[in-house]
Amino acid sequence: MSEIKTIGVLTSGGDAPGMNACIRAVVRTAISKGLKVKGILRGYAGLLKEEIIDMDGHSVSDIISRGGTILYTARCLEFKQPEVQQKAAEILKKHGIDGLVVIGGDGSFAGARQLASLGINTIGLPGTIDLDIACTDYTIGYDTALTTAMEAVDKIRDTSSSHERCSIIEVMGRNAGYIALRCAIATGAEDVFFPERRQDFSIEGIIKHVKDLRAQGKKHHIIIYAEGMSKDVISSVDLAKIIQAETGIEARATELGHIQRGGSPTANDRVYAALFGAKAVDLLIEGKSKRVVGYRKGEFVDYDINEALAMTKDIDEYEYNVSKWLVR
Ligand code: ADP
Ligand code: F6P
Repeated sequence: MSEIKTIGVLTSGGDAPGMNACIRAVVRTAISKGLKVKGILRGYAGLLKEEIIDMDGHSVSDIISRGGTILYTARCLEFKQPEVQQKAAEILKKHGIDGLVVIGGDGSFAGARQLASLGINTIGLPGTIDLDIACTDYTIGYDTALTTAMEAVDKIRDTSSSHERCSIIEVMGRNAGYIALRCAIATGAEDVFFPERRQDFSIEGIIKHVKDLRAQGKKHHIIIYAEGMSKDVISSVDLAKIIQAETGIEARATELGHIQRGGSPTANDRVYAALFGAKAVDLLIEGKSKRVVGYRKGEFVDYDINEALAMTKDIDEYEYNVSKWLVR
């Protein structure tokens, strides 16, 4: 068992629904185990400015159903510099913070790893809508973002059918297609394209598919398009223009954007966030450091941050095959 007395918690990188539920769990678990908690505002950027507040059970009241993060979040590029990391470790020590919980993605974990090497016990928790963290099957925020995307596509389908259009809906995910693939399965889309299987994408193939389905009497054509495709292959707007020009069928692109990052978290996101948060505190009390918590094959696990960052993952092959049978 460790001598941890004060735990710090911060959120870093893109916000994700459920981060508040996670902060709440860290605070309340720590307090119930006799520890003090400090909240660090605006991720590593706020840490460097000593934006550190005392937290008690009351400071996390009434946040479990709220999206975003009450601690705010930021991206802080200078944190990659060793002297900046050293300064951050000194600030943490000055404030008596001997254990730090970092809620974010791989970049945030890389920062936590550096702090661990400077003597701060750190635990990373997976918080991102993208589900692109290799050591875990679940990330806080993915379920809510997917649900939001699904509901948006259902709405777009109504207008798309009424106007007999083709709709290209661009979903988030950074370089990953987890939101895109499941969104397509959940909405019964006609096509889905994402970076991990970009070989499936061809303009000729799409045009033929749109024409074929129209000839069969289909009144809409929904294409779920991952943002990674829009950035690296062809933008959703340009794709819509080409489809319209080549098929004579009206085509519109909709970028769902940040709507996918907000909103009240789903029950799953709240519950997993709560369990992740409690687990982080327990690990710190056990004397663990430089760990990332994941949820894999039905159980909570933790890995050394180096090991976690070296892992890779890909779209599940069976799920991908299922999409081939159903998304068409
Ligand atoms: P995410 O945590 O969601 O992957 P980012 O990649 O934007 O999001 O990283 C969040 C923050 O983590 C960055 O703004 C930076 O402060 C910190 N960070 C990212 N990469 C590193 C690194 N290699 N070393 C130290 N800190 C890093
Ligand atoms: O990582 C979450 C995410 O929403 C990605 O899906 C997206 O690529 C990126 O963040 C957008 O970041 P920003 O907040 O800078 O628009």
